[in-house]
Amino acid sequence: MIGVFDSGVGGMTVAKAIEDLCPDLPLLYFGDIARSPYGSKSPEVITECCRRNTDFLLSQGAAAVVIACNSAAATASETLRRQYSVPIIDVVAAAVEKAAAVTVSGRIGIIGTRATVRSQVYERRLEAARPGCKIFSQACPLLVPLVEEDWLDARETKMILRRYLQPLRQQQIDTLILGCTHYPLLGRLIQTRIGRRVRLIDSSAEAARHLKEFLDKNPDIALNRAERGRQSRFFVSDSTGPVQQLADRIFGRPIHLEKVDV
Ligand code: DGL
Repeated sequence: MIGVFDSGVGGMTVAKAIEDLCPDLPLLYFGDIARSPYGSKSPEVITECCRRNTDFLLSQGAAAVVIACNSAAATASETLRRQYSVPIIDVVAAAVEKAAAVTVSGRIGIIGTRATVRSQVYERRLEAARPGCKIFSQACPLLVPLVEEDWLDARETKMILRRYLQPLRQQQIDTLILGCTHYPLLGRLIQTRIGRRVRLIDSSAEAARHLKEFLDKNPDIALNRAERGRQSRFFVSDSTGPVQQLADRIFGRPIHLEKVDV
């Protein structure tokens, strides 16, 4: 089975995108609600959480792990790859590949949590993928709580988005990476405010595409016989009403969350 982890339920946008692309692939999802949000934590704490999450997924039988959290991938993906022998797919690498391929002007914007922007991982990887490109990043710490409050269409959300996106509009970017799992849920509002000429890159959808490409090349990892017909399982380290609602909304159906001590 494929393990997927996030700081909470935002990574379910990645799990849903995987389900859409690979409907027969059972997933083991872990959302670290008890320690969420990662976006405001130090690199040391985020890295330790990521190790724990990976150990848990491996103990449940994951043959590969998707880091479905930009803050986690930006901070800890290199450390995890050094420390674990299983294949590790991450949201950042997938979004970088797509952005580097589609930008025409080479002027690329990134929005994400403070942890993601602070890591400068997008800058490093984009410079390697597309030398000479110009990167403009903007931390948007208020967007995750707004999504979690379900204020997806609220006037306040639109005002805050306008303020966050204004500096990027002035930089004449042609591509904008949604560098946080929650932002696809604000995709329409972001597109309206950044302008129709700017191409949005959804890091969740790109991670799903990356995983599919990887599994097409490694079918033995995708599914062994014993796993055929198994259902995906969704584990969380804490569970509350709003968490359950967000999970159900992302999947468009009731999701059974299993609480575990990790
Ligand atoms: N999942 C996180 C991300 O993609 C957002 C929530 C958090 O800060 O933990 O960056």
